[in-house]
Amino acid sequence: MARRKPTPLVAASEVLVWILFALLLVPAGFAGWAVGHYTSLGKSSGTTTVTVTAGTTTSAATTATATTATSGTTTAPAAGGNAAAGKAVFVSNACGSCHTFTPAGTNGTVGPNLDTSPTADATKDNMDLTAFVRQSIVDPNTYIAPGYPKGVMPQTFGTSLTTTQLDDLVAFVVGGQK
Ligand code: HEC
Repeated sequence: MARRKPTPLVAASEVLVWILFALLLVPAGFAGWAVGHYTSLGKSSGTTTVTVTAGTTTSAATTATATTATSGTTTAPAAGGNAAAGKAVFVSNACGSCHTFTPAGTNGTVGPNLDTSPTADATKDNMDLTAFVRQSIVDPNTYIAPGYPKGVMPQTFGTSLTTTQLDDLVAFVVGGQK
């Protein structure tokens, strides 16, 4: 009979452990529910970050961060520049006053027809088309289109245009080749 005396003590401490356990589990469970709940709510609204902290004793289990990242619809510019933006550069720099170029609706005749001439001259000059067009704009006198005057095309575009404008302009001219 005497040996059974410790039993109530054991039972009491066991109950305590279970109470503690429950105290820790309830906030953890709530945190889990909350994260799931808010994550599902935030699905279509871009990036939602929900941080739920419940209690202070169960740091590992109850601090949860759920991130629903919805990548936007930003269209990265094509590697060689944005041709649509290049059209605006073409127009604002009056390239069309000297050049015929169908995509820009221009019909200048001082310089070569940009619908076809760059492709032909890049081949003659044994150059990659994009590199040739870029060079022709930045440094026009490096290669003179046969039958056209040297020093008439402005030499200033290499400094007056930003790198982005130049990339876009080159993409526009290259993309408009027939
Ligand atoms: C004042 C007239 C004039 C303006 C403005 C002008 N160009 Fe030219 N461009 C020429 C002439 C003339 C040539 C031919 C001589 C040469 O190859 O440099 C030429 C050549 C070129 C060539 C090389 C064509 C080939 O087949 O070799 C390209 C590309 C070109 N221009 C693009 C442009 C762009 C883009 C602009 C606007 C940013 C522009 N040009 C503005 C007169 C002009």
